[in-house]
Amino acid sequence: MAKNNDFLIEETDLVNHDTEYLETIFALGNGHFGVRASNPLKVNELYSGNPGGFVNGFFDSRPIQYGEWAYGYAKEHQTICNLPNLRGIMLQIGEEDSSKIEWHVKLANLQLDMATGVLAETYQITTPEGKSFELLLTSFASLKRQELFVCKYAIQNCNFSEPVFIQPQLRQQTKKSITDDPRVASHQNELTMIQKENTCYFQTENSKQEVAVRLSNSDKQILSVENSVTSIFQISSFYEKNNLPAQIFTDSFGDYDELLAEQQLAYQEFWKKSDIVISGNSKLQKGIRFNLFHLNQGAGRDGKTNFAAKALTGEGYEGHYFWDTEMYMLPFFIYTNPEVAKALLTYRYHVLEKAKARAAELDQKGALFAWRTIDGQETSAYYPAGTAQVHINADIAYAFQLYENVTGDETFIDNFGKEVIFETAKFWMSFGYFCEKDQEVRFCINGVTGPDEYSALVNNNFYTNKMVQNNLFYASELAMRYNLYETERTEWQQAAEKMYFPHSEEQLITPQDDGFLDQEIWDIQATPKDKFPLLLHYHPMIIYKYQVCKQADTILAEMLFTKDFSQAQLLRDYDYYEKVTTHDSSLSRSIFSVMASRLNKREKAYNYFMDTALMDLTDLQGNVVDGVHAANMGGSWLSLVYGFAGLQFNQGIHLTNHLPEAITDLSFNLQYQGSLLQIKLTPESIECILPENSSLIIEKNNQELWIKKDR
Ligand code: BGC
Repeated sequence: MAKNNDFLIEETDLVNHDTEYLETIFALGNGHFGVRASNPLKVNELYSGNPGGFVNGFFDSRPIQYGEWAYGYAKEHQTICNLPNLRGIMLQIGEEDSSKIEWHVKLANLQLDMATGVLAETYQITTPEGKSFELLLTSFASLKRQELFVCKYAIQNCNFSEPVFIQPQLRQQTKKSITDDPRVASHQNELTMIQKENTCYFQTENSKQEVAVRLSNSDKQILSVENSVTSIFQISSFYEKNNLPAQIFTDSFGDYDELLAEQQLAYQEFWKKSDIVISGNSKLQKGIRFNLFHLNQGAGRDGKTNFAAKALTGEGYEGHYFWDTEMYMLPFFIYTNPEVAKALLTYRYHVLEKAKARAAELDQKGALFAWRTIDGQETSAYYPAGTAQVHINADIAYAFQLYENVTGDETFIDNFGKEVIFETAKFWMSFGYFCEKDQEVRFCINGVTGPDEYSALVNNNFYTNKMVQNNLFYASELAMRYNLYETERTEWQQAAEKMYFPHSEEQLITPQDDGFLDQEIWDIQATPKDKFPLLLHYHPMIIYKYQVCKQADTILAEMLFTKDFSQAQLLRDYDYYEKVTTHDSSLSRSIFSVMASRLNKREKAYNYFMDTALMDLTDLQGNVVDGVHAANMGGSWLSLVYGFAGLQFNQGIHLTNHLPEAITDLSFNLQYQGSLLQIKLTPESIECILPENSSLIIEKNNQELWIKKDR
């Protein structure tokens, strides 16, 4: 199959060649597992990289040690487990053995074909006795068969004639030193490894989980210029320790060529639904595809796992799931691949009991979802920027609602969604309260942290209140639809209607919270460049005193509910918050890009978008070594679709052309009510092609389109 250059990421495209950076960028995964692209021969202490293999949801826990403890603090850390290197091999030529003495290995080429999810690597190898050859490794994480990681080895350009023996080796990782950076894992787990024939069993110490990895052939095999060798790893889901089912693996899959053909087909399907084509700038085109590719690689699809902040590409944030999924990744899946969206939302239903237990522990009604977690338990050790971000409840509700609006899948809401929405609504009624504000009865929510982690424990965070209002309206609508919660539903409706929003009559700015505008403004311009991100250089207490934002907060609320604000208000708020925002969080720029588009600040929108589209390829945040910034990847889709194409859901899909000058053609697909829509934008036009027999209708007004159900 001929490779399309616009789908290829090569090592030569990249600005930076640090080993750990390359391992992240070229990591492969399929939502069930992920494997970093580490050098297959260099796995000893001298190796400068950080090999990694992760199974989504497979973690170990350990108690959080607090210097000073308080009631209700999260009890346990959860850290994703790094499996022994799935790519490790041992090579032998005559008496020379690569596992006994260091061979000289040089990476000569790395090429990721995003059209098929296949990674091709070439290594130039010289043994201590001077034998030289090239090793070619081709690998992929099967999208169709979630348990399979497929590797093919070949050699060429040998200066010797003896046979080369190859043996895959599951080797324990070299432990990396632990850093103080709160965004990195604070601990590495010890796994017990039990090997029985071709299968290795990995058991955690405390969480009592187990994963099995079976190798199709673990024997030594001959590798020659004529004969390549294929190793297929089967990676089980995680199970309770010593409780693996008798039949963990299937034997019914084809050989390398058949698996590759399946992979090509699965990716063809993915791109058919999800691709975004941008004219004119090949770097940008690759950048956006790279982001979509990693989004597809990171999403759990079994309803029991979710999407880690670093996808399955590294140990950053310990493999935790956050609100990132609902607010940044899910829009992409809901509009292009609703089956995956459904699986991610099902995970929240799956952990609902834990969220109810957490609410009860905090003496609240309903359910409170964990700010950061793997199995649903709250694991945030720093509650002001953790548990206090209760907005996650309303974020989850928002995503269920968006899923319903876009897909029309009421059955899912009936079976899984409604209970989540009702339980979150109950939480708000006990956590918030009616009080008198501005001589009126209003519903207030105090002592929370909004998305901006540079302000904590504030009263009436604007974003939170707006999202909770939406959560309560949706709950009351569902209660009506299903004829449930007769008494509560009136309260939910009332609280939503009476929701209090901070406002400032003097400045006419929407305050981020009750006290925000009264605080001193942090002088961002005067802060030395090496003091960013602020969180690594200033005590939280200092940061919290100021008007300074880590990320979009009020601007995010305004992006989600743009039509609720006047254009003048949006403009004032944008200009104000842009000046006090550091974008120290990778979740920020994409939202500023969307709003800049909607406010006709097209050049700004484009510049923010460039940063988000190329964030990981250019290592903008400087920490790609720990994994990709998955929320930003979803954010770059938002910048394009919600920003340049102005998508807002409003009784249907509403699009407005905001294409920046630098882009002359933009096309992408959306799924709405089961129909695949093809959207095309040029500076002068916006078009939507509906599939034949679609029952949708299109209304057009100059540079705006509405795609609606024909009622
Ligand atoms: C951001 C959070 C985000 C987390 C994980 C933090 O830096 O402030 O909003 O959920 O990263 O991506």
